[in-house]
Amino acid sequence: MQPSPIQVPTYPQIPQRIFPIIDIGDFVLREKCDADAEDFFRYYSDPEVNKFILCEIPKDVEEARKELGYWRRVFYQNDGLYFAIADKKDNHLIGTIGLTSHNAYQSRVELSYDLAREYWRQGITSAAIKAALKYGFQTLKVNRIEAVASTENLPSRNLLLKMGFTLEGVLRQHRYHRGRYVDVHSFSILLSEYRPEFTPEFF
Ligand SMILES: CC(C)(COP(=O)(O)OP(=O)(O)OC[C@H]1O[C@@H](n2cnc3c(N)ncnc32)[C@H](O)[C@@H]1OP(=O)(O)O)[C@@H](O)C(=O)NCCC(=O)NCCS
Repeated sequence: MQPSPIQVPTYPQIPQRIFPIIDIGDFVLREKCDADAEDFFRYYSDPEVNKFILCEIPKDVEEARKELGYWRRVFYQNDGLYFAIADKKDNHLIGTIGLTSHNAYQSRVELSYDLAREYWRQGITSAAIKAALKYGFQTLKVNRIEAVASTENLPSRNLLLKMGFTLEGVLRQHRYHRGRYVDVHSFSILLSEYRPEFTPEFF
């Protein structure tokens, strides 16, 4: 009797993890790298920038580099992704925007962002959020994108409302920040509310 031919199993292709690059006009959303540490530390240690950022602020460039590395890994751990916002002219990092704590089963992800002070009020974060919403709803295919901000963070509150988020309420003493518990506003936008073609003026 002829031996039966060996069945060679075929495995599904493992998709490559290539960090996306998104063009937002004069700026680009790209992967963070070690070379960004000085730019990141410079603007992030500005007290006006970190006043309402509810996490530890790096004390020096080396800590900033470690923090960039931590958030960079999020993408490779399938936990979302954290972009650098870079100036197209010189590729310098001027801010960051992330979709993290991706919960695939619950189909939601959390948005965060910050920007160097000299770039404020030029519509840059609005453009970055628009790109992040598109990535979240169309690539990660989540049903809900959420954000929290200190109740004292008026710029962030106005920004999220302008971008179509709904203010859901106050989470009381939700975050421990610089020696006290602070209240945060909880915001979200749902897939059913998302309009890919919207411009900030739309709202
Ligand atoms: C919040 C922040 C990211 C806004 O970025 P930005 O690029 O300046 O925002 P945009 O230019 O896209 O502004 C869009 C809208 O946000 C609101 N906004 C932004 N800055 C504001 C401010 N200082 N005061 C009141 N509303 C403000 C306005 O509604 C604005 O629209 P308008 O300019 O037509 O009035 C920026 O101020 C920042 O980095 N702050 C410190 C870090 C931080 O708080 N991060 C968020 C933690 S939850």
